[in-house]
Amino acid sequence: MTEEAPQGVDPHIPNAARMYDYFLGGKDNFKADRDLGDMVLSVLPEVRDGTRENRAMIGRLVRYLCEQGITQFLDLGSGLPAQENVHEVALRHAPEARVVYVDNDPVVAVHGRALLADPDRVAMVLADMRRPEEVLSDPEVRGLLDFDRPVAVLMMFVLHLVPEEDDPQRFVAAYRDALAPGSYLAISHVTNDVATERVMQVSDFYRKANAAFTPRSGGEIGAFFGDFELIPPGLVNGPGPHGWPFDPDHPLPIDEDFARMAYAGVGRKP
Ligand SMILES: C[S@@+](CC[C@H](N)C(=O)[O-])C[C@H]1O[C@@H](n2cnc3c(N)ncnc32)[C@H](O)[C@@H]1O
Repeated sequence: MTEEAPQGVDPHIPNAARMYDYFLGGKDNFKADRDLGDMVLSVLPEVRDGTRENRAMIGRLVRYLCEQGITQFLDLGSGLPAQENVHEVALRHAPEARVVYVDNDPVVAVHGRALLADPDRVAMVLADMRRPEEVLSDPEVRGLLDFDRPVAVLMMFVLHLVPEEDDPQRFVAAYRDALAPGSYLAISHVTNDVATERVMQVSDFYRKANAAFTPRSGGEIGAFFGDFELIPPGLVNGPGPHGWPFDPDHPLPIDEDFARMAYAGVGRKP
């Protein structure tokens, strides 16, 4: 990204999506994002590997879901385009796949739309996942996804950007309720079960950004799945070589602590 910001975007306010892009080694970020990103890395250097692990996990996850016969994906809090985006993996494994990306960041929407060349299969919707009624009735969402059939809803590294006062358990339940049997919900989420002090210090840093940062306990993260059946190995520490799904062929060297600083799981609607 040039240092010139698109209209309506203040480059001086650090932004969670662009900081994540910085951690991934991307170019879609401004100085303010990099400065706060460096503060985070000074306390939690494992974040760099961890974000890459999360992306690698998304690739494995989408492939797994395609193997289960899923062809419809709703990726909430999809982030700036990176390597191995959901639609690229999905279309490789299921050529009939449909993918809708949803993000509430206008910069993500602009970059996402520039990347997507096939409106019959893939859409980028600018919307707030905290309003499931709006997301689920959006014409582009309805146009591409058939909710009478199984859909995989992805919430990867996004719910920890939603504070408790926005009642994430309520809106996540609304997505679960809207899905047909055989649908999936996948979540990766930072926890403060370990390294609590350092993770909470990062949480303070994020207050300066455009989003709150709310790590949660394994119990709180598990509750997002409601009555969905967790696919083995269940809610596990991840991303990382111990993450979901375990991939013995590609364990990246990752700090044990970071591997335990997040949980990931996949649930299936009975
Ligand atoms: C850390 S990035 C994760 C991107 C991607 N899901 C991944 O795991 O690689 C989180 C993304 O969620 C988006 N986001 C945060 N709050 C959101 C909300 N309420 N509705 C939609 N998107 C949101 C941010 O703009 C950002 O792009």
